[in-house]
Amino acid sequence: MISNQESERQMATTSSATRDRQQGTRYTRLQLALHWAVVLLLVEQWVTAKAIPRTHNPFLPPSGADLLQHTIHTYAGLLIGALMLVRIGFRLLRPQPQLPQVASWQQRVSRAVHWALYLCLLGQVAAGFATSYLWAPAARIHVFFWNVTLVLVGLHIAAAAYHAVRRDGVASRMIPWMR
Ligand code: HEM
Ligand code: HEM
Repeated sequence: MISNQESERQMATTSSATRDRQQGTRYTRLQLALHWAVVLLLVEQWVTAKAIPRTHNPFLPPSGADLLQHTIHTYAGLLIGALMLVRIGFRLLRPQPQLPQVASWQQRVSRAVHWALYLCLLGQVAAGFATSYLWAPAARIHVFFWNVTLVLVGLHIAAAAYHAVRRDGVASRMIPWMR
């Protein structure tokens, strides 16, 4: 058993970020890492996607670099799918860290955009898999999901920028270097 004094001493020596994490007002380090890893992977997916049509040109043999990018796109895309399942698991099993003072309509919109992003990215992975291995016309669905993702990410970044300017403690939840 830890005495009250002992636990107070421990709390005082724990950094405020760690304490917030323990008290459920912050995302865990793993959630932060997953968020930013998926952001980087999405940029990589956008870059590598451009090589895919060149590997399907019947008149020109594909270059090694294009084939490599196609392979990266496939496996990194499947990795995004796996990482999104882990994030959804977090969202369902661990309560969303408590938001600072934010209007309830903003909380509802943020929840809706997050869930739309989870589902859209999973849908994108499923459609990409179908295009590659099962049914080529699913490419149109893959592109559709990409366009919806771009709209959602645009809204999401606009909201993050709004909260960053207001310094109301929302943006710093996912941007740890921001205070
Ligand atoms: C979230 C993960 C993914 C993202 C963000 C993504 C993104 C993209 C983008 C932006 C394009 C180009 C769309 C356009 O022409 O405007 C594309 C094309 C393509 N992607 Fe993905 N992708 C993902 C996952 C996957 C996976 C897992 C596979 C296969 C297993 C895949 C296979 C393909 C194929 C075959 C194309 C070419 C489609 C065509 O013929 O037009 N993608 N992807
Ligand atoms: C580009 C693709 C992005 C996607 C798909 C994305 C997706 C998400 C999702 C699904 C969440 C909910 C928490 C979680 O599951 O981890 C979240 C939270 C968050 N993201 Fe992003 N994000 C992206 C980019 C960004 C960028 C560029 C910023 C900052 C400029 C940002 C700032 C935030 C913040 C501040 C939160 C916490 C919001 C809250 O706690 O209510 N995100 N993001």
